[in-house]
Amino acid sequence: MALPSILVLISGNGSNLQALIDNCNSGKIPGKIIHVISSSSKAYGLERASQAGIPTMTHELKTYYRGIPKENKDARDEARAKFNKDLVNIIIGKLKPDVIVCAGWMLILSSDFLKPLHQAKIPIINLHPALPGQFEGTNAIERSWKAGQDGLVDKGGCMVHYVIEEVDKGTPLIVKEIDVKKESLEEWEARIHALEHEAIVEGTIEVLKQLNAK
Ligand code: GAR
Repeated sequence: MALPSILVLISGNGSNLQALIDNCNSGKIPGKIIHVISSSSKAYGLERASQAGIPTMTHELKTYYRGIPKENKDARDEARAKFNKDLVNIIIGKLKPDVIVCAGWMLILSSDFLKPLHQAKIPIINLHPALPGQFEGTNAIERSWKAGQDGLVDKGGCMVHYVIEEVDKGTPLIVKEIDVKKESLEEWEARIHALEHEAIVEGTIEVLKQLNAK
């Protein structure tokens, strides 16, 4: 029987994509990465995918915003809606993955993107470098490090969760914690990333398991 197909969405370095590639290759993840989509043409993750023989494409918001001034909010909203619509059409109409994994995808996915996926019954999960209910949105690693050093929290971590419209708030599949200690941002970041490389693999195995159970 063919392995379930995985689409990975990235925006940057792709170290979590690498963890997925390595663990699909070793057979630990019972799935096959069929495509990688990046929101940036400069993402190093595109190189990692190509080296692994995985087809890639770039879907950049700036192409859609070209020529529209920031002040023209209506035209920008329209461009963003078109960006979402085109992306979802590529995914549902062409790639047809069994699951989608956001591994460092940095754009907010709104309901006009998520609703058609839910209708098509394609689960979508996301990796976030903070614990549930803490530091949603961007720069979570830096914000959680600062809160830890200021004595406001004594734990940090990461989670893999189902994507819903509210940013970084969907039901968690995997949560991993570490204790705060006195350390530099770089040290905290390295510990969070090491944790993420395990969480993304476990989260993907879990979503595939839940898919098979349906
Ligand atoms: C990871 O730390 C991931 O949690 C974060 O981007 C990084 C991507 O690293 N994602 C978010 O903050 C999403 N809210 P990578 O490109 O090396 O995998």
